[in-house]
Amino acid sequence: MEKLMIAGGRPLRGTVQISGAKNSAIALIPAAILSETAVTLDNLPALSDVAIYTELLQELGASVEWSKDQMMIDPSRLLSRPMPNGNVKKLRASYYLMGALLGRFGEATIGLPGGCNFEPRPIDQHIKGFEALGARISNENGALHIQAKELRGAKIYLDVVSVGATINIMLAASRAKGVTTIENAAKEPEIIDVATLLNSMGAKIKGAGTETIRIEGVDALHGCRHSIIPDRIQAGTYMIAAAATRGDVIVDNVIPKHMEALTAKLQEMGVHIYEMDESIRVVGQPEYEAVDVKALVYPGFATDLQSPMSSLLTQTRGVSILSDYVYSNRFKHVPELMRMGAKIKVEGRSAVIEGSQLSAAKVKATDLRAGASLVIAGLTVEDGVTEITGVEYIDRGYDHLVTNLSNLGAEVWRQND
Ligand code: EPU
Repeated sequence: MEKLMIAGGRPLRGTVQISGAKNSAIALIPAAILSETAVTLDNLPALSDVAIYTELLQELGASVEWSKDQMMIDPSRLLSRPMPNGNVKKLRASYYLMGALLGRFGEATIGLPGGCNFEPRPIDQHIKGFEALGARISNENGALHIQAKELRGAKIYLDVVSVGATINIMLAASRAKGVTTIENAAKEPEIIDVATLLNSMGAKIKGAGTETIRIEGVDALHGCRHSIIPDRIQAGTYMIAAAATRGDVIVDNVIPKHMEALTAKLQEMGVHIYEMDESIRVVGQPEYEAVDVKALVYPGFATDLQSPMSSLLTQTRGVSILSDYVYSNRFKHVPELMRMGAKIKVEGRSAVIEGSQLSAAKVKATDLRAGASLVIAGLTVEDGVTEITGVEYIDRGYDHLVTNLSNLGAEVWRQND
């Protein structure tokens, strides 16, 4: 079993380069199959989820060339074949194959998605969207069979603001006849990134990044080249780690605007932050104020930074309340942090976190961001070595983690038992 070992207590110092956004990449890769010719993606992160998506596309008959941070996807020989099991179950974002194959072929059979299961994550809004576009959907042994004789534009109001449903509907609707509008759409930067790629492929999408997105369907889409936006969650994780270790770190290749909710909260705690055009310098301080944090949809504080933030909140002088209004029970990291001496009480959607000194322990990452929170906690521990299992979850979202942290002066290594 592979473990991540951390001998903490060293302030992080130096510069870290942020790679392309995971949650963009795993939507852009399936979006590329809507094209008739080759699409090139730049600034691609080296993550296990990207590797799994590459295999999925190859299983469908696409030719994929991936070298360093660039991927060329040629979907000209793609076929819509059923994918009920296997790789689709390893990845939550495999649900984007539903929208992409439906748009390209009018048909898709995709196993219900897997991924980080910190709580039940329904896809009813995706299905509602496909049905509004004219698709018929049936459940066949755990896989969804989605079929439409003709996709027709429709007005779709999302009952829940959902990143995945917004993107999936954009994918299918970009090849529908007529105009689709998505009301109460999610506004995350990754949605703008997908719309930018689709528009470069010839789609007609307006309003991405606002709550109303208008998609005028087109007959065909073509290849293009697109550079993926920086990963705001990876950037935020390093910002939080810099603050938690009382370090001094320049987080480079970021869009500071995407980080505003986190930056404001760190400043409220007393962290010093300096914004440049494409980088942010985080200077930690000896003492922090307790703060209340509410994870919301964008542009609110990101739920994906909620678990890393809980580790930082153990380093304050008082009691903080951290609530998640996106997921009702994303607190699987809390019992693990408590093994390390954290004083946390979970009440419904909120965690009440009292400042405390953490100590080394053997802990388990149960999902990606839970893993990030344990890494940050381990970095703050003065004595002893923290052992984190469940490394495969962390690898889903943080490429070059050990190298990046080592370059910032941390003592971190992987160990196989
Ligand atoms: N929801 C529904 N019905 C749906 C879809 C969503 O009730 O049909 C609910 C969810 O249960 C949740 C809320 O709506 O309570 C938001 O879910 P959303 O659909 O926005 O999440 P997602 O698209 O499945 C993406 C990211 C997540 C991130 C969320 C929120 C990907 C592949 N995943 O998930 O990222 O937490 O948006 O920003 O893009 C992560 O990176 O660690 C991660 C989990």
